[in-house]
Order: sequence, then structure tokens, then C-alpha cells
Amino acid sequence: MPAQDHKKHHIRFIGVSPLFREIKQSILKAAKFGITILLSGETGTGKSLAAELIHSESPYYNHPFIQVSSADLTNDLFSSQLFGHTKGSFTGATGDKKGFCDQVGKGTLVLEDIDNLTVEMQGRLLTFLDKFHYKALGSSQQKKFNGKLILTTNKDLALLVKEQRFRHDLYHRVSDIELEIPPLRKRKEDIKLLIEALLEEQRKQYHLKKLTIAQDAMNILQHYDWYGNIRELEKTINKIVFHLDFKVEQTITKRHLDKGSRIRTEWKMKPTEQETLPMVVADFERNIIIEALDYCSEVRQDTAKYLGISRRTLQNKMNRYELS
Ligand SMILES: Nc1ncnc2c1ncn2[C@@H]1O[C@H](COP(=O)(O)OP(=O)(O)OP(=O)(O)O)[C@@H](O)[C@H]1O
Ligand SMILES: [Mg+2]
Repeated sequence: MPAQDHKKHHIRFIGVSPLFREIKQSILKAAKFGITILLSGETGTGKSLAAELIHSESPYYNHPFIQVSSADLTNDLFSSQLFGHTKGSFTGATGDKKGFCDQVGKGTLVLEDIDNLTVEMQGRLLTFLDKFHYKALGSSQQKKFNGKLILTTNKDLALLVKEQRFRHDLYHRVSDIELEIPPLRKRKEDIKLLIEALLEEQRKQYHLKKLTIAQDAMNILQHYDWYGNIRELEKTINKIVFHLDFKVEQTITKRHLDKGSRIRTEWKMKPTEQETLPMVVADFERNIIIEALDYCSEVRQDTAKYLGISRRTLQNKMNRYELS
């Protein structure tokens, strides 16, 4: 049985929001019919996972799936890495070598973060995209790419074109085939389901009978903006679960969010809640520090200055609120 066979239907790309359903449908359609696809979206929105889903749902799911980061390609090696080379085609080419296009065959080649390609590499990619013909370095034999090509980016390519960091002709070529995965804060209906799935995974990992989340904690997580998207949500849940004392705690409550993560909790004093003034003030202070840290890109010196306190005081407060 081919190595990737197990992959089919095992990719859990979860969501219920109309925005998510729409993009998932396009992704599944691209899996069946698309040759080249550009997956865009902020970091952590699920582009790499979507690429795996496309492969697993494609007719060639049992062929190779190869992911290449554009950051690992260089002007000098680009053609050789993608298209291969023949013995002696350059100093150090001691034998024939297959490129990713050969290796992938009818499978799926994912070129991640294409915004990292140099302008020169962008030119070569554009030529390749024209007819999907290529030649190994040092060879005159023309070959045809038979697989599926997925490109990904978490940057706004139109903006990079304006800044002349991305070729406009390549942008026009790839924007026709773009599928954009929306950020989590625009589809907050998905958060609950994702949290439940993540908790189920964690429950199994720690061999627990039960692992749940209380409504107050769920409310806060559902309203949070998740600028790091699903990756941030995943990390937050995993961190909170890690800090639970499993002997007595199998339910995540608001208190755990305050401890293990940087989620801003609400600081309004509500008559129904048993909160004292010092508790509310502490919450308030904690939230302000989190926001200041965000604003100052986590640089402590700048954050202290911004807040008008010494670095030492900031550090003490961060320790107290477990923000270090
Ligand atoms: N809809 C989803 N359902 C379940 N898990 C998801 C979903 N979307 C993303 N994830 C998970 O979130 C994490 C981040 O996703 P992924 O690595 O695909 O993001 P990305 O868009 O490729 O990010 P980057 O731009 O940083 O490469 C992964 O662990 C992935 O499995
Ligand atoms: Mg990725």
C-alpha cells in the first residue's frame, strides 16, 4: 500500500461558520479539479493543513506529498532543487539528481510562503507556470509537470506588488487561482468546535476520562480576537491543559485562563459575581500590561517606558500575573 494511503479522509479541517463552509467547499473542489492553487491567509489560519486536505482528497492522494519552504530556496539552487540537475552541470554536481517536480510525480508539491522568493526566483516560477514545462539543469530534455502545485502565502501580495517586492505579472497569474482562508476573528462561530476538538485530543493524550471547559471560560475564548488564529488557540488550550492539576481539575474555568495564558479577561465588576475590588483592579492592571506588551512588541524596556513605570516594577507585575 502506498505510504500516503492512510492520509485520505483523516485530515480534520473543522469549522461550521458560513465563511468556513464556503472556503472548505472551494478547497474540496480544488482538490478534485485544480492544478495550481494559491492558498492565502494570515499565519495560523490553516493553509498548510488545507494543502494536506487538498492532497488527501485529490485523485492522486496515494502519490507523494512534498512541502518546500521558499525560505530554503536560493537563487543559485532554485532550478536545481525544483527541476533537478545532471552530473557536471555545475561545480559540485557529482551525479544526476531529481528535483521536487520529478519526485512528486502525480502527487502534490506545496511551495510555502512564496512571498519569500527573490524577484529572480519569481521570474523562473512564472515561466514554469506558463506551461508547466521544465528541464533539469544541464539537460536539454523537456519534461512536463504532472502533479498539483499549491502555493501559500500569509502576506498581502497586492501590497508587496505595490512595494515592488513581488512581480506584478506573477501576482496576476496566481491571484486568479487564489483561495483565501479567513482569519478566525471573522468566523468566531468556529471557535467552540475547535476548542472541543482540541480538548478531545488533549484528553486522549493525557489519558483522562473527562476534560471539559466551563461556560465562563468558553465565553471569553469565543470573544477573543486570536490574531495568531488557530495556531494561537491550539497553543493556548494546550498550555492551559498542561497546567491543570489532573487529580482534581478536569474542567477549565476562567481562573485557568488568568493563570496560564495571555487572554484578556473582562474587568467589569458584575453584581452577580463574587469579585472584590482588589480582584477587579488586578484584572484591570493585568489587561493593561498585556495590551502594552502587545503594543510594544514585547520589548520590556519600551513597555515600562510606555506605562511610566520602571523595568523592575514591570517585571514584578509580570511575575505576579504570570505573564513572563
Ligand atoms: N479548520 C481547522 N481545523 C482544525 N485544525 C486546524 C484548522 N485550521 C488550522 N488548524 C490547525 O492549526 C494549526 C495551524 O495551522 P497551519 O499550520 O495549517 O497554518 P498556516 O496557515 O499554514 O500558518 P503559517 O502561515 O504560519 O504557515 C495547525 O496545527 C493546524 O492543524
Ligand atoms: Mg503553513
